[in-house]
Amino acid sequence: MDAEGRGSGGLFRTKSVEQSIQDTEEPDHALSRSLSALDLTVFGVGVIIGTGIFVLTGSVARDTAGPAVAIAFAVSGVVCALAALCYAEFASTVPVAGSAYTFSYASLGEFPAWIIGWDLMLEMALATAVVAVGWSGYVRSLMDTAGWELPTALQGPTAADGFGFDLPAALLVLVLTVILLLGMKLSARVTALVVAVKVTVVLIVIVAGAFLIKAENYRPFVPEAEGTLGGSGFDAPLIQLIFGYEPTTFGVQGIFTAASVVFFAFIGFDVVATAAEETRNPPRDMPRGILGSLFICTVLYVAVAVVVTGMQHYTRLTVDAPLADAFKATGHPVYAGFISFGAAVGLTTVCLILLLGQSRVFFAMSRDGLLPRIFSKVHPRFATPYRSTLLLGLVVAVVAGFTSIEELASLVNIGTLFAFTVVALGVMILRRTRPDLHRSFRTPWVPLLPTASIAASVWLMLNLSGETWLRFGVWMAVGVALYFSYGRRRSRLNAGTRR
Ligand code: ALA
Repeated sequence: MDAEGRGSGGLFRTKSVEQSIQDTEEPDHALSRSLSALDLTVFGVGVIIGTGIFVLTGSVARDTAGPAVAIAFAVSGVVCALAALCYAEFASTVPVAGSAYTFSYASLGEFPAWIIGWDLMLEMALATAVVAVGWSGYVRSLMDTAGWELPTALQGPTAADGFGFDLPAALLVLVLTVILLLGMKLSARVTALVVAVKVTVVLIVIVAGAFLIKAENYRPFVPEAEGTLGGSGFDAPLIQLIFGYEPTTFGVQGIFTAASVVFFAFIGFDVVATAAEETRNPPRDMPRGILGSLFICTVLYVAVAVVVTGMQHYTRLTVDAPLADAFKATGHPVYAGFISFGAAVGLTTVCLILLLGQSRVFFAMSRDGLLPRIFSKVHPRFATPYRSTLLLGLVVAVVAGFTSIEELASLVNIGTLFAFTVVALGVMILRRTRPDLHRSFRTPWVPLLPTASIAASVWLMLNLSGETWLRFGVWMAVGVALYFSYGRRRSRLNAGTRR
């Protein structure tokens, strides 16, 4: 085995950082470098603010945490900040497409890298579907206002009794797929415009809503813990199942359960790292882009949660459009209309960027031979990985048409938290195995901070349900089978298969 681990058939053979960077210069398999730090921050805010704050705030406050949902957002924000500091070091050291997948390939080895790539596909594909379905809900509510209604069978599986297909959600994914096929520059411009609308709407909620807060709505701020009704028991957080506690909601435990759910609202800053290869100056711009977008979103989320639970008692918040409905309930329908419109517009960029992120992970895995190489051919005119983009776009459109938000959001969260754990581990390992590498951004307090990041991510994972763990296990088992039957044999790290 040479210094880079090539030529070995081992599960932990690594692809060197230099090789990863060199691969990005291969003709026909290279993406163009056009993004700045500002583009990345806009890109980050564009994907982070979405269904999480616009939709989940209401149901989580009502059913799990009460006004303390604001604390849950802060807890989740801290977990993400720890992970972001690890992501930033990796992204500025290994600036190639593929995010945590590429980072793990350079540090942990091929098999862990495959596992993480497979996991990221689950995260991003399902998250795209979740957001598309959330978007469809807002669009249908706007259509209702205008007096139009879709046939029930086209409103999605939850609305219909028999066959149900969410037509708007599937159409959204298809249109965005075409935009991505046409190239990065166009999508970055569209993104900037939509992000402006979305942030304006969030600011309207905070500023206008602040005048409508009533102190009595905060009582109790942390509702007393109570037992959960019904359920198989398997839908209780794993931590309660492990220790045999009587499953409860609200109380202090409720804040953590809420944090593991509203975590969905933060997903996306890690996706910024997937654009490293298309960034003009990755060492400087990646850390700024990742940390900047995460900070802005955390502040906005906590503010929105405080305002909304202050406007309406948590027991009266609605599930589908809680932010808009809080304004309706306090007698401000015009604001409510603005918010619904902004949410519908804003969710499109979230979908777009998640779709972009996953096509880039797929692209990177295919370029390494772990998935068929034909998917990493770049379009001669648009310079985009058109085959992987098209394939994933079609699959996600179908998934978005046939599934509901509730089934999928927790699965997305567990997948993302798992990726955070691997990245933090990777930072510590790469510091030991490649201390020589230039790191323009260094995670502070290694190994303390990455260890804290792992502990925090695992803690949130344990607060997800036993059912979610089971589904996650099944997806991962399929991935392992695929690696051993295809990826391992076709990997470009096998002797004599490069170029
Ligand atoms: N963070 C994104 C959202 O809330 C995925 O929709």
